[in-house]
Amino acid sequence: MMHPYRCVICGETSLVSAAPERCPFCGSDRKNLLPAAEWIGYGEVEMCEKSYRACEIALGLELDNYAFYKCSAAKAENQVTQAIFERLMEQELEHAEVFAEAMGIPFHELETDRCSESDFINMKKSNKHEVRAIKFYTKVANEAPEPRIKQIFSVIAEVEQEHLIVTNMYLPR
Ligand SMILES: [Fe+2]
Ligand SMILES: [Fe+2]
Repeated sequence: MMHPYRCVICGETSLVSAAPERCPFCGSDRKNLLPAAEWIGYGEVEMCEKSYRACEIALGLELDNYAFYKCSAAKAENQVTQAIFERLMEQELEHAEVFAEAMGIPFHELETDRCSESDFINMKKSNKHEVRAIKFYTKVANEAPEPRIKQIFSVIAEVEQEHLIVTNMYLPR
């Protein structure tokens, strides 16, 4: 039987018989998926100026990565790399939504054609992007005074770590 499990990071619901290993939308770990009745919506978060600025930077990184993966998916050399780039693209957009919601602002998707025709080059570049995000998110998770901001940054840093593992594993040789 299907039950609604809702993610405390992105707010999306999965209708499944048991909580999946990861949120299919934002990629966060199973421990963030709660039965819908126990779910708590945080919405806009009251935060200090420094945390707001961190969310602003994070939103920019996520939208940038979203556009990059979208471009990479469109130019993918085979259906495996295309599938990976498309999933990463969706997750980055979901992350952008998480930061925008915490800040209480709308956001617009970005477009870019700044990616290569080569999966190899795009995977390499993606690694650079992910490492940049992981470093920054981990720092904010350690320093931010607000528990919800800490939670968002540490969970999303962990998801980006998974992105890094995926792109390393499928890096065409
Ligand atoms: Fe999620
Ligand atoms: Fe992300």
